[in-house]
Amino acid sequence: MIELERRFDEFARAFEVGAPLYGKLAARVAREPRVLGLMSVAPETQRIPVLLFAAAHHLLLAEADHPLAAHYPNLARRDGDGDTGDHFVDFVLTRADPMRELLASRSTQTNEIGRCNWFLFPFAILSEEVGPLARVDIGSSAGLTLLSPHIGYDVRPGGIIGAESSLAIVCDVRGQPPLPGRVPAVAWSIGFDASPIDVSDDDEVRWLEACVWPDHVERFERLRAAVSLARAHGVVVERGDAVDSVEDAVTRARSHGHPVVTTSWVMSYLTPMRRTEFVGTLDRIGSISDLSWVIAESPRETPELPGHEGSDELITVVTLVTWRAGHRSVRRLATTHPHGNWVNWGS
Ligand SMILES: C[S@@+](CC[C@H](N)C(=O)[O-])C[C@H]1O[C@@H](n2cnc3c(N)ncnc32)[C@H](O)[C@@H]1O
Repeated sequence: MIELERRFDEFARAFEVGAPLYGKLAARVAREPRVLGLMSVAPETQRIPVLLFAAAHHLLLAEADHPLAAHYPNLARRDGDGDTGDHFVDFVLTRADPMRELLASRSTQTNEIGRCNWFLFPFAILSEEVGPLARVDIGSSAGLTLLSPHIGYDVRPGGIIGAESSLAIVCDVRGQPPLPGRVPAVAWSIGFDASPIDVSDDDEVRWLEACVWPDHVERFERLRAAVSLARAHGVVVERGDAVDSVEDAVTRARSHGHPVVTTSWVMSYLTPMRRTEFVGTLDRIGSISDLSWVIAESPRETPELPGHEGSDELITVVTLVTWRAGHRSVRRLATTHPHGNWVNWGS
């Protein structure tokens, strides 16, 4: 229990400014043994503040009229009455059974539409070079970045690309990326994930929403808009392991266009051996037929990937790997914000 108290206290100090609601709640929960006790059902590695908060948020999203909701910036339709901490403690303790069920079975999940910015410029380069693209996104989660051809981009400076889309994301750029005149088309796409989220399933979508911090209102609203768009476009994510699925997926893609594999913040979940196998599989495919791979990962977390050798950078680096006539080239393109807010081209 002392270790849990410490985790919540540390969280409170770390996020008191950046996420005031969760900062305040963490400080309170650290002193509430009955709430901390709920966490004993979670696997040891998952006994972390964000899991408790996601579980409570998940239940609250289904009860948006509850007085606690008025204290959540993303849900508040009026000013909250009473003490936020009191409401929170009462809310979770009176829902102890569903809380325990969520804490025992879930882990936090993210899928960030802003990360489409990572693919805009590489896809522009590739479309220009090879024509229609057929994309295989590995570790796709709910497949939201598969929406990259269907959203608009407010590139600053640069202007708006894809103004007709119902959803636009801001992309602050430094450097001189190749600005396309229109959003690069993707002729066919599919996602794979070890635990895919089905965007047509309300409960699964609610968990994805619950994992967004309520203080980040814009992110929360953008996620809802992205889910609606994903439903409208029938985004497809199949269950499959990164290494075991990629070869068949590339074969399927090839009949629709030039195959482009994309990986964003998934390779760090694999063991070093499995990452080496993944690279080996793409090298083998690329030695026989043309292939491209857009990597958006942290070099420090994934040193086995092309271009990451010897780098200690924790930041997300976007790298384009191409195999043409059996020859592999690796081009580092940019560093970028973890959710894609900015792209620092050529760095
Ligand atoms: C941090 S999320 C990133 C999701 C998405 N690529 C993005 O950038 O928003 C990592 C995803 O990788 C998936 N994943 C983890 N290990 C995997 C594996 N061995 N094969 C396929 N997917 C995996 C997880 O289930 C999760 O959905």
